Amino acid sequence: MTTRKLSRRAFMEATTGAAGAAWAGKALPLDATQIPTKAAAPSDAVRFGIVGIGMRGSDLLAQSIKLPGVECAGACDLYDGRVELAKEIIGKPVTTTKRYQDLLERKDIDCILAPVPDHWHHNLVMDALSAGKDVYVEKPMTHEVPEGFSMIAAADRYHRIVQVGSQEPSSVVYHKAKALLESKVVGDVCLIESSLGRNSPCGAWVYGIPPDLSPETLDWNTWLGPAPKHAFSRKRWARWRCWMDYGEGVTGDLFVHSLTGIHYLMGVTAPPLRASSSGGLFRWRDGRDVPDVLTTAYDYPGFRVTLRVTLNTGEDEITRVMGPGGMMKILGIENPNAVTVWPEDGKNHGPCDMAWPQKLADPFEQKWHAEHDLKPGTGETVEASGWYAPPHYSSTRDHLWNFFQSVKTRRPSVEDAVFGNNAAIACHMANYSYFNKCVAVWDAEQKRITRA
Ligand SMILES: NC(=O)c1ccc[n+]([C@@H]2O[C@H](COP(=O)([O-])OP(=O)(O)OC[C@H]3O[C@@H](n4cnc5c(N)ncnc54)[C@H](O)[C@@H]3O)[C@@H](O)[C@H]2O)c1
Repeated sequence: MTTRKLSRRAFMEATTGAAGAAWAGKALPLDATQIPTKAAAPSDAVRFGIVGIGMRGSDLLAQSIKLPGVECAGACDLYDGRVELAKEIIGKPVTTTKRYQDLLERKDIDCILAPVPDHWHHNLVMDALSAGKDVYVEKPMTHEVPEGFSMIAAADRYHRIVQVGSQEPSSVVYHKAKALLESKVVGDVCLIESSLGRNSPCGAWVYGIPPDLSPETLDWNTWLGPAPKHAFSRKRWARWRCWMDYGEGVTGDLFVHSLTGIHYLMGVTAPPLRASSSGGLFRWRDGRDVPDVLTTAYDYPGFRVTLRVTLNTGEDEITRVMGPGGMMKILGIENPNAVTVWPEDGKNHGPCDMAWPQKLADPFEQKWHAEHDLKPGTGETVEASGWYAPPHYSSTRDHLWNFFQSVKTRRPSVEDAVFGNNAAIACHMANYSYFNKCVAVWDAEQKRITRA
């Protein structure tokens, strides 16, 4: 924990009383969400089906079946190996299928978890909603802009819960950060910067391919779904993030987490006004059509955002929220999963006479010191403060818990289709700007992205 000398009076003048009261802390643990340990009666359980048992789906499945009062009633994947993996995770007999429609037809299934690649989000959500199921769909909510508006309309029409899977709004770290911002801890926020770097094949989505993956073990045509026709490709199945046909590159994979967090913190209820991207494909020339470096500057009403991802140099994920009262940093989502505040009083800490002749500078400086210097022994230390999530804390677990609670109690989702759509549109704007080499503008009336 770093500290620096700052007059408490000066600092208190520059912040609100409520924020000032928080400075007593140093690095404090946050309380984990209270999830009951006792299971509900079996008749009261929420029963889910899961479609997609991949990297994300296997984690969602493993975490969900440990939640009290939550049961997996069926699992679906198009690849035999992942159907087998679902059975391994569940560890007891469970219905499995390669047709997700089999799960939607079942009356004993309340809701669907949908961790499928992005090009499948829209169709799966629409089918699930029209079958009367609530849906947890992974981020980004959409692959194309128009999809979001039909998903919002369907959620309304069928009175179903939709929760999007970027877990930030359920994280205790983001809850703390939002409370700090609302207490004006850094004053009025002008700028938020978020950055992340990776430097490994796995970090650049060059994932391993199961040796038995073949047209015999994978239903390739269904996997392609609404995407353009393409010959069977082991790489495209395993590394779909590398192609715009199925994903959105760094924006849909990584920016979306920062954007979700920022929209949550700042109470954003619409897409950004403008986005301008710069980037390129510098290293991973393996046939992909998405950049491996991308920086995007966004205009939001009242503040600005810059996001930066590189797949070519490692850097821990960090979000810096800046205002005249100082800087709040959110560090990592998994590790260290913390929020820190560094206060600033926004005042001169010395005379501000720049390159004046001595006969002017000397009296100015003397006067400044006489008026501002602390009397010996009166200075106090103001400490930067930090709060961290408990060890092994999982915001994904809390996010799942929130979803299942919404299904059970019908309380609104913590990250509904409107919220998910706004974050996804911000991703699409970044790509629009990058691929069209122009500033992307959100046309709210026409519900589309245009060039400036
Ligand atoms: N919230 C997070 O932190 C987080 C982390 C990772 C991934 N994700 C998201 O989760 C989703 C899945 O990503 P992943 O890394 O698990 O991908 P993946 O390729 O590892 O797994 C997807 C699985 O879905 C299956 N599938 C695809 N279409 C299907 C269909 N129509 N019916 C049944 N099964 C189908 C595939 O065969 C595959 O096994 C993506 O939207 C991704 O952005 C979110």
